[in-house]
This record gives sequence, structure tokens and C-alpha cells, in this order.
Amino acid sequence: MKIAAVVGSPRGMRSRTRRLAGFVLAGAKEAGAEVDLIDLADLQIVPCTACESCSLDGTCVFADDFSAAYDRTLDADGLMLASPVYVDNVSGQMKVFIDRLADAMHYQNFAGRYGCSVATTQVSGGDAVIGYLNHVLNYLGATTVGGMSVALGDDPGAIDRAEPAARDLGRRLVLAVRDRPRYPDQEVEMAENREYFAGIVRANRDWRPEEYERWVREGWIGEE
Ligand SMILES: Cc1cc2nc3c(=O)[nH]c(=O)nc-3n(C[C@H](O)[C@H](O)[C@H](O)COP(=O)(O)O)c2cc1C
Repeated sequence: MKIAAVVGSPRGMRSRTRRLAGFVLAGAKEAGAEVDLIDLADLQIVPCTACESCSLDGTCVFADDFSAAYDRTLDADGLMLASPVYVDNVSGQMKVFIDRLADAMHYQNFAGRYGCSVATTQVSGGDAVIGYLNHVLNYLGATTVGGMSVALGDDPGAIDRAEPAARDLGRRLVLAVRDRPRYPDQEVEMAENREYFAGIVRANRDWRPEEYERWVREGWIGEE
């Protein structure tokens, strides 16, 4: 079993968000998972330009670091999104990454996977960002098991004090991948999303027939 984390701070090794994500991955490792930390600070990923080329075959026109990072997330059974709070939202780096996942959302490429989110902030906005990131995971088709945010304030020990809870979140993610618990509220939301995305899958049927057939097999679309 593999758990991947995408970290959206630009501060690399100095990032407290990365440190928090590392604690979650340490918990996942303890529970028996292989882990993979994808730090967006190491990568060059350009913003989506809405050219819609990805709707043709799922690939992006930009030959940057996105597709390798995306493949690493797809290779995992559990996915964590981790971002610092920037002006009450995710960092620009994380938002650019999320926008590039639009085709993966339309086709529900993370269906059956589990996820969680973490955030750090100076003062406020952490819970809203976790809520947003978990919502993004639901958009992708993944079921979320929770999240945590840490308000750093002027307290240099704040992140380290969060370690036990973060490790616990990592263990919970691994258990969810193993035991596959169901969350009816999320299932309702994801079914509603799929109703909308089904329109896209139908419209693209002629040039993406395998995807259309996968949706029929999954029961997300009725055969016409
Ligand atoms: C551009 C920018 C915007 C920020 N906006 C907020 C904010 O709205 N609220 C807040 O409490 N902290 C804000 N912060 C502080 C960061 O959330 C905080 O420093 C974060 O934990 C840094 O994480 P990192 O060490 O992983 O980069 C902001 C920081 C930056 C650089």
C-alpha cells in the first residue's frame, strides 16, 4: 500500500507544512504503508490555460513536471494534500496543481482511493483550507478520512506538538485504505458530482471510448 502527499509550500525543507505532512506520512509508514512526499517547491508546474486539450485524451499540452507528479499520486492508494494558508486560501502553488487536475476530476480518476488534508497558518483560515482540500479530494472521487490544521502563532513548538495527532491521521488513512469505511454524506456529494461529470464523459465519448466504457462498467452512466 502506498500513501502520497502533495505539499504546496514554496519553502522546501524549511516548510512547516512539509514537516506536518511528514509526521502524517511517518504515521502511515508505522502502520505499514510505503510513503511518497511530492514537494511542489521542487517542481516547475505552470498554470492551466483552459486550452481544453486534455479533454481529447487526458494529456496536457505542457511538458512540465506535472505529469510525473500526477503519476506518483495515481500510483498511491491514499493521497494527502498539504498547504499553508495564503490569504485565507491554499498557496498559489497548490492551486496551480489542483487546476491541472481538472481532467482527473472529470473522469473520477481517484475513485476508490482515500485521502486527507493538512494545513498550517499563522493565525486563521486553517480549517477552511482543510475543508477546501478535502472537497477537492471528493471532486477527484476520493473519500476523505479527516484533516488537521496548525496555527503557528509565535510558538516555535506548535508544529512539533502536533506530531502525535498528525501521526494518528496517517495511521487512520492507512486503516481506511485497508478497511474501506463508507461515509454516506460524501457518497451523496460524489454521486452528485458524477451526475454532472457524466455530461462531459458522454460528450467526449467518440474520442475517449475506453473512459466512457469504464463509466458504464462502474455504473456511473447508463448505457445508451
Ligand atoms: C503570501 C502569504 C499569505 C499568508 N496569508 C495568511 C493568512 O491569510 N492568514 C494567516 O493566518 N497566515 C497567513 N500566512 C502565514 C502562513 O500561513 C504561515 O506562515 C504558514 O504556516 C507557512 O507555512 P510553510 O512554513 O509551510 O511555508 C501567509 C503567508 C504568506 C507568505
